[in-house]
Amino acid sequence: MTDFLRLAEDIAREAGEMILAKRPTMSAEIETKSSPTDVVTTLDKASEELIRDRILSARPGDRILGEEGGEAPGESDVRWIVDPIDGTVNFLYGLPDWAVSIAVEVEGQVVAGVVNVPARGEVYTAALGQGAWLGHERLRCNTGVPLAQALVATGFGYFKERRAVQGEVVAQVVPRVRDIRRGGSCAIDMCSLAAGRVDAYYERGVNQWDFAAAGLVATEAGARLGGLHGRPVSPDFALCAAPGLFEELHDLLAGLNPERDA
Ligand code: IPD
Ligand code: CA
Ligand code: CA
Repeated sequence: MTDFLRLAEDIAREAGEMILAKRPTMSAEIETKSSPTDVVTTLDKASEELIRDRILSARPGDRILGEEGGEAPGESDVRWIVDPIDGTVNFLYGLPDWAVSIAVEVEGQVVAGVVNVPARGEVYTAALGQGAWLGHERLRCNTGVPLAQALVATGFGYFKERRAVQGEVVAQVVPRVRDIRRGGSCAIDMCSLAAGRVDAYYERGVNQWDFAAAGLVATEAGARLGGLHGRPVSPDFALCAAPGLFEELHDLLAGLNPERDA
């Protein structure tokens, strides 16, 4: 497991350095994907290519799921889950909260995760059963925070119908919590939770590449991660907070029926 983490961290750092080096000239080269606001830059693709290349050089038989390149079928028990840039809109606007996210899954369980935030010089790491770290600092999420005092991170998808519902839901949440943050990167939101910079996170519509690595960082920092009604985290719904706050926020959200897109 330590070997997986070391390799994932080396690759995430190399991808981050490459993106930082090329950003001044290449960040404005964009195409749209699922909707006019869902963009991919040349550097998203270059980052994923570099990551795939490094993984396959070190471990030729492994499977890789990447946001930009999809998933190639394979026999291996080991699957790498990659978001080459999480927070692409921040990246495009020169905001610092974008990350390279790499998780390693063995037999369906994430065992190692790295979230590299190059513009902040922060690298979050976690290994299953071995804790979560920001550099050399061991992370613990905030505990004992009541919902009314909670700083809650969330995000919005790229489809306008889904966003309209997400806006309705957040309008019901904001009067009941300390405040809301929309940071623009699911992976960083969950790492921020692990570091005690926010108390909770929820979002509908995030994908495995968004939450695989950061989910391990958060749970290894003591948070609970799941979906609604006892279901596991999935694109349907992601909710993360320390136990206690998780249940309080769950009950508020479940009552708002947030797993709908119209
Ligand atoms: C997005 C970010 C954002 C979240 C979106 C994601 P991308 O990923 O994580 O915070 O709200 O749901 O799609 O497109 O920047 O990789
Ligand atoms: Ca993403
Ligand atoms: Ca991405």
